[in-house]
Amino acid sequence: MTPSTTASRPIGVFDSGIGGLTVVRALLHHLPHENVVYFGDTARVPYGPKSAQVVREYAAQDTDILLRYNVKAIIIACNTVSAVALDVVQKRAKVPIMGVILPGAEAAVKSTSRKRIGVIGTQGTIKSDAYTHAIRQLDPSIRVFSKACPLFVPLAEEGWTSHKATELIAKEYLFPLTLEKIDTLVLGCTHYPLLRDVIGDVLHHHVTLIDSGEATALAVKKLLEETGLRNTSTQKPRLQFFVSDVPDKFMEIGERFLGQKLGRVQRVSFEIGGAP
Ligand code: DGL
Repeated sequence: MTPSTTASRPIGVFDSGIGGLTVVRALLHHLPHENVVYFGDTARVPYGPKSAQVVREYAAQDTDILLRYNVKAIIIACNTVSAVALDVVQKRAKVPIMGVILPGAEAAVKSTSRKRIGVIGTQGTIKSDAYTHAIRQLDPSIRVFSKACPLFVPLAEEGWTSHKATELIAKEYLFPLTLEKIDTLVLGCTHYPLLRDVIGDVLHHHVTLIDSGEATALAVKKLLEETGLRNTSTQKPRLQFFVSDVPDKFMEIGERFLGQKLGRVQRVSFEIGGAP
């Protein structure tokens, strides 16, 4: 295979559900000509409250789905999967793999001047301490304060991005972090960029918010350039969306997460030759 045909192969992105579309959005912003195959495991979402063992099993199956589409690289958009199953995906796929934890951690380390970083995410991500380890590996003098914010996921999906209830919940979750005088906060979940405004307001805009999806898109750009895998075509990219279940609200919610219309969303089965 010539390098140009390799480069025109799609980037595979997977997530526990719809949230990873925020990462695709950032990816398309920085790499507007890359073809993308997205898989969201909407039948089994959420992954955040599930055990690491189960998430690792799901991650292996999600990877196999993307490998059916001849992807040139895989982005694990889900923070929970990146936190507990990066090695599973790396062992399974012989293409470059990028999780969201390290790019998010690197961006946070660059941003902090007081060396006090907050991290918010699902229960699974926070329990794993993956961000804390990554940050402290980069700079052991940094202190990290984490907080699981599970209610942010349904609030973002409900579109309650500037609702009074969301503000109250955000205050409740983030208050302990404000006491720690953090100057940087990692939005360590696919859904949280949608709540950026309310989180910023609650923190009185004194804290720099790091979108790990955005940091990952930039890291992927660098990776593709370094490996000669960047698509040099200037044509409109082909975006394909696959899910394990198509809930009624998927198109509407998806559009909000992606920032543009999704077009066709196809259901795919974990069994080869299963669902259409
Ligand atoms: N995609 C998940 C994450 O970024 C959030 C939703 C879930 O719990 O599955 O951790």
